[in-house]
Amino acid sequence: MSAKRVLVTGAGGFIGHHLVTHLVRAGHWVRGADQKQPEYAASDADEFLTADLRDPANCLAATAGIDEVYHLAADMGGIGYITAERAAIARNNTLMNIGMLDAACASGVSRFLFSSSACVYPHHLQTSADVVPLREDDAWPAQPEEGYGLEKLFCEKMCQYYSSDRGLPTRVVRFHNVYGPLGTYDGGREKAPAAISRKVAGTPDGGEIEVWGDGEQTRSFMYVSDCVEGIYRIMRSDYELPLNLGTDEMVTVNELVDLVAAVAGKTVRRRHDRTKPQGVRGRNSDNSRLREVLGWEPKMTLAEGLRPTYAWIEKQVLATQDAPRPSLVPA
Ligand code: NAD
Ligand code: GDD
Repeated sequence: MSAKRVLVTGAGGFIGHHLVTHLVRAGHWVRGADQKQPEYAASDADEFLTADLRDPANCLAATAGIDEVYHLAADMGGIGYITAERAAIARNNTLMNIGMLDAACASGVSRFLFSSSACVYPHHLQTSADVVPLREDDAWPAQPEEGYGLEKLFCEKMCQYYSSDRGLPTRVVRFHNVYGPLGTYDGGREKAPAAISRKVAGTPDGGEIEVWGDGEQTRSFMYVSDCVEGIYRIMRSDYELPLNLGTDEMVTVNELVDLVAAVAGKTVRRRHDRTKPQGVRGRNSDNSRLREVLGWEPKMTLAEGLRPTYAWIEKQVLATQDAPRPSLVPA
């Protein structure tokens, strides 16, 4: 495959940062764009544009001279953040997404990948912990997660319209909960694997941690290296409709806590707080179509992926114990 000039938006964030490294290693010239530099490690991008992508002029500057766009920039976080900041999330992401689609057309890019989410799936299909894995076609008729999920579903459709009406080749990827080193682990935007790892790292052997809900809610979690490999494979494919990208290894949150504790070599007691945000009761990915299209699916088990994740978070927690980092969530 010939080397491309590639743009990764959200290159200052968790998945975008790992994706930049993956693309540079694959031989591409990469421009990263984000309103901030990566927090925990320098970017491998050949060029980094620090800019607010809600401004259409910045979207144009980001896409100038670019062959392929991986659009990952988003105002996002775990269930605590996305249920607390619906107006900001829906507004910021809609502005960014439309600006990026217009700029991609104006700059003549040859492919545009949009990072959607499992949060597009209807609430009524996720009311049981023993959930039926979600297939791509389940997204309609729609009843997505308020704010964040609705905005993702809207942009999925915008990709379809920009493809059919304006000739922009698009790819749409629905990520299921992604974790790994260099992911947000504190400040209010963290997701369950990072939050639980931080809590376990900060408690002594035999201690107690707070777990949101009764812990019997279910999810599947995807390690970040599988995520970036999947993104790359989907971009290279000819498939234009939305595709799940996740694992189908479903666990309860209590099982997640036990796995993290085992990696840490600690015994941990769980204190369940049922007043905290819990999101859907159960969620799992049906990977049939992903396997059909790519002949590939994520392979890292949760037990394997938690080892490097926990090791990295434990190191951060120990390093910042005396100097807590500021909250990332607006007051
Ligand atoms: P992240 O928060 O680490 O990265 C997103 C980046 O977007 C951040 O660096 C942020 O600064 C940047 N951004 C936000 N607003 C911006 C703006 N106005 N201008 C420029 N940059 C801006 O999140 P992530 O986990 O790396 O997620 C990447 C993408 O994947 C997002 O689109 C997210 O919605 C999607 N996604 C992630 C998950 C997951 O589990 N991590 C699950 C589903 C979907
Ligand atoms: N964040 C967090 N922190 N969640 C916790 C905690 C904790 O300390 N303890 C238990 N949980 C539970 C939550 O109550 C929820 O039921 C489950 O763990 C998963 O929470 P998150 O990882 O925060 O989010 P999610 O899976 O509901 O949704 C996430 O994944 C989507 C894609 O699958 C979000 O990050 C979305 O933004 C993302 O699109």
